[in-house]
Amino acid sequence: MLLVKTIKELQNLLNDSRKFGTIGFVPTMGALHKGHLSLIKQAVLGNETVVVSIFVNPTQFNNSTDLEEYPRTLESDLELLETTGCQIVFAPNTKEVYPEPDIRKFNFGKLETVMEGKHRPGHFNGVAQVVSKLFDIVKPDRAYFGLKDFQQLTIIKEMVLQLKITVEIVACPIIREKSGLAMSSRNELLTDEQRKNASLLHKTLLTAKEQKGQKTVSETITRVIEMINRNPFLNVEYFEIVDDEQLQPVKNWNEKSSKIGCVAAFCGDVRLIDNIYFN
Ligand code: PAJ
Repeated sequence: MLLVKTIKELQNLLNDSRKFGTIGFVPTMGALHKGHLSLIKQAVLGNETVVVSIFVNPTQFNNSTDLEEYPRTLESDLELLETTGCQIVFAPNTKEVYPEPDIRKFNFGKLETVMEGKHRPGHFNGVAQVVSKLFDIVKPDRAYFGLKDFQQLTIIKEMVLQLKITVEIVACPIIREKSGLAMSSRNELLTDEQRKNASLLHKTLLTAKEQKGQKTVSETITRVIEMINRNPFLNVEYFEIVDDEQLQPVKNWNEKSSKIGCVAAFCGDVRLIDNIYFN
């Protein structure tokens, strides 16, 4: 496994790799856990060369404390990556990715006016800036993203269409802790007690799914928010049930679309997200 920090070094390596088969790419912000590793393992299974990037992208943080506190654990990340069979780790610094400020403004229409897009203004513009730059640098055949960040996945698919990038986007399932809590780099910022209580997010979504037949969509939404907020450690920012293509609120269970319930909640200062398919 090779660690490279510059675009030039990376592209020199990839010029050779491309001759031997496909390139799979897994963009990350580091502080790796089993969720990330599952994406990387899937990439390793499907491609001759796998590149993992580790870059905490400043343009997608709309809160400077969140950016400062984001865990940075390159040494232990590299140890974990050695176990996965990935060949190249790209860990650039900010100047390498943004030699000058990126002033591009994307327009994702309705996709970005709900949920994360609504509550974290500018977040997806930053994600699109960095992912489009990384795609341009790596030129992967396939890129792997987690369903945990469902809206991000949808936005990336839309960005690829808009920019006519020829990459296959592969969606990977959510990996959870034993308690059901979706794995996240931010879980490391929770105390043991907070972490235990945070598992209520997934439990509540599961219950809501099980009881779907007995409640309307709007009753389900109210009930989920109540159940989570009743826990003194948790505070819901939003819970929405949307269709899984346009991400627009669902009114009735009998609408044709596939439906997904997405939640964001604070556990102390730590913002957690999770989701579940309702069909
Ligand atoms: P990061 O939060 O590090 O996540 C990197 C990838 O891992 C994303 O595709 C995310 O959905 C996936 N992932 C995280 N937790 C997961 C879990 N529990 N199960 C399955 N997949 C999981 O998402 C980002 O970084 C950034 O926004 C990035 C795309 C790298 C752009 O900066």
